[in-house]
Order: sequence, then structure tokens, then C-alpha cells
Amino acid sequence: MREVAVVGIGVTEFGEKWETSFRNLFVEAGAMALEDANMSGDQIDEMFVGNMSAGRFVLQEHIGALIADYAGLVGNHIPATRTEAACASGGLAFRQAYTTVASGLNDIVIAGGVEKMTDVGGSVTTDALAGAADREWEGLVGATFPGLYAMIATDYMHRYGLTREQLAMVSVKNHANGAKNPIAQYRKEITVEDVIRSTRVADPLRLLDCSPVTDGAAAVILCPMEMARQFTDTPIRVLASAQACDTISLHDRRDISTLDATVAAGKRAYAQAGVTPKEIGMVEVHDCFTIAEICAIEDLGFCAKGEAGKLTEDGQTALGGSIPVNTSGGLKSCGHPVGATGIKQVAEIVAQLRGEAGARQVDAEIGMTHNVGGTGATVVCNILGV
Ligand code: COA
Repeated sequence: MREVAVVGIGVTEFGEKWETSFRNLFVEAGAMALEDANMSGDQIDEMFVGNMSAGRFVLQEHIGALIADYAGLVGNHIPATRTEAACASGGLAFRQAYTTVASGLNDIVIAGGVEKMTDVGGSVTTDALAGAADREWEGLVGATFPGLYAMIATDYMHRYGLTREQLAMVSVKNHANGAKNPIAQYRKEITVEDVIRSTRVADPLRLLDCSPVTDGAAAVILCPMEMARQFTDTPIRVLASAQACDTISLHDRRDISTLDATVAAGKRAYAQAGVTPKEIGMVEVHDCFTIAEICAIEDLGFCAKGEAGKLTEDGQTALGGSIPVNTSGGLKSCGHPVGATGIKQVAEIVAQLRGEAGARQVDAEIGMTHNVGGTGATVVCNILGV
């Protein structure tokens, strides 16, 4: 296997983008990534696009060819493929791109993700997202994503004594980071009181415990490390890209407060990179709901089970803490255009490791991403280093 580097990144502003079409969102991110890598589109050998549900959100399928066409990449008739694993669709695109470059099949590959979720009403969005769980045994009996994660939160709080305040602190910290991120959907600081008093969505989760509904796109360009300095002075190495799966239904899990697929993908990534959690300087985890960040910190080995609430309360996951978590603002504040999230996480780590993260810059040489599909049926973890 060849060593692989990320040489270009591009992320659109996240939010409600009425003025931009689905296809143009991706083209914007892809053009930024090409410019960042000082290369032109005709140098690309292959493209993977993470997208969960364009068929429901914008009534469009056949996303690989559509995006290649509107990005001006059809001249060389390159392979262009959509990857789908619900909210881990972007993570999957990155892993496919990594695999094809590492294997020697291709030299320059673009991995992107795009979702435009706000063109339909809230009930369509909630129903489309419910398709990431088990439609027959969960969706059809009324289980929504906030509902499923509320069950995890209830179980976790009961067993490990996590307080309502500690849960809120996850959101407060992520909003503080997002307020420093120019592309974030909700660039505003909030308090524990704001979270606890926000509208109840699915008890115990409140509005400010939930990631929002978002439009956005992100793209990164990978190539073999030996070619990387042709394109950038600051290539970032891909030290690991690992994936794991688990049961699609929450009720079939061994333990609903531990995502076994996170544990498995994390262990595989650490083994591949030859590092331990102690050597990771920062991590972007999949905080689709505040409880998801609490579970992720533990399942990835940054603290023991039951201790993530205290770690958060002590400020260890904030900027300047021992393990900064979600410096981008995470899904909660930066936003969660589901197919794009896994790629935005990689772009955030690359920006941080290059020292280009502005007011949210942390001191790290190795960073990790954690992207979850559904309630943990698919997990992709990547580790990147300078
Ligand atoms: N965080 C902060 N503010 C939010 C928000 C969020 N998650 N969601 C909505 N808002 C704000 C809106 O900006 C709006 O503010 P305004 O009145 O000042 O304009 C207000 O809250 C109401 O927005 P609205 O769009 O009507 O909210 P909603 O009730 O339709 O949706 C949720 C709120 C939580 C149900 C929705 O964001 C949601 O479904 N989130 C989860 C998405 C999800 O499951 N993703 C997949 C995870 S695996």
C-alpha cells in the first residue's frame, strides 16, 4: 500500500442555502479544493461523492454522473460514484478514495459530500432521516432519530449518572467553537441554561441538544505522498482509514450506550496508524445529538466508560483542553448536511494540522475523525498527521 496525503480542501458555508442549487453546492466545494491544491479538474482520475438522500431532498438520483458533469469532469470520462451509508456517506467517500490511491489504482482522487436538506418540509426531512434506521422495526412504529438517540441518552444517564447540565455542556462547548468558524450554521455562543430551557424534542433531548437540518458540501483531494509536494507545501498524511458495521436496529444491540462499531473502527484505525488514543491531539466526532459525543469520546478510548460527562465539565474537550473535541463546532453548531459531514470533518483536521484554523486553532500533530451512519450501524474513523 502507498502512503496517501490530502493536498486540497474546500468546504462551502453551511446553513439554509436557498440561493444555491444542490449541484452548485458541490461544484463550489470542489472548485475550492482544486484551487487549494493548485490543480485543474482534468488532473483528477476518479471521484467519490457522499450523499444520503438526494432522491428525497431534491428529487435527484444518479449523483455521481450529475456532479461530474456540472463540475466539468466528464471530458476524460472519469469514474464518478455516489457512496451512501446515511450520515456516514461522506466518511465512506473518503475511505473509498483513500483505498484507490493507496492501492495504486489511481493517483489523484477527489472525495466529496453534499446534501441539500432544507428544500422540503420538516416532516419529509424527519422521515427521510428515519430511513437510516430500520424502517420495518423502528421507522414504521414512529421512531425518529431524535427519538432513538433519546433512548440512548435515557439509558446512559440512568446507568452512568450523567447530569442534564453535563449533557448541555457538550452543546455549549460546540457552539463556542462554531462561533469561531466562518462556515458554521449557528455562529452563536449559548449557555447551559439556554440548552435546558430550549424546546423539548424527544425527552431528555432538547432543541439545543440536536444537530440542525443543513445544506452544504465539502471536498478533499488525495494523492500519493510521493506526489504531494507538486501541489502543496503542507501535505497532510492519511495514517489510517477504517470502517465497521453493526446491527441496523438499536434494539438488537448488545448495549445501546456503547456503539460497538465505533469501538471496532477506532481500534482498527489506531492499529493501522500505529498510535494510541493518547497520541491523538484533536478529534472531530459525530455529535448528531449531545449524547452521541459523550458516547463517542468513551468508545474511542479518550476516557473510561461513564467519564465523558466529567471530562466535558472539566473543560478537557474544549479548545486548549487535553483532547479538543469538535473544534469546527461539530454537527451541533457547524451544521449537519448529512452526506457532507464526514468530508467536512477531514477538512477541519487538515486545516488544524496545517495551522490554518484561525481563532479555533489548537496545537496538534495528529487528528482523528469519527463519522456515524444511523445509530451506529456504520462507522468510519480516519487518522491524519503532519
Ligand atoms: N440547533 C439550534 N437551533 C435550531 C436547531 C438546532 N438543531 N434547529 C432549529 N433551530 C432554530 C431555527 O433556526 C429556528 O430559529 P428562528 O425561530 O430564530 O428562526 C428555530 O430553531 C425553529 O426552527 P425549525 O426549523 O422550525 O425547527 P424544527 O422544530 O423544524 O426542527 C429539529 C428542529 C431539532 C427537530 C431539527 O433540527 C432536527 O430534526 N434535527 C435533527 C436532525 C437529524 O436527525 N439529523 C440526523 C442525525 S443522525
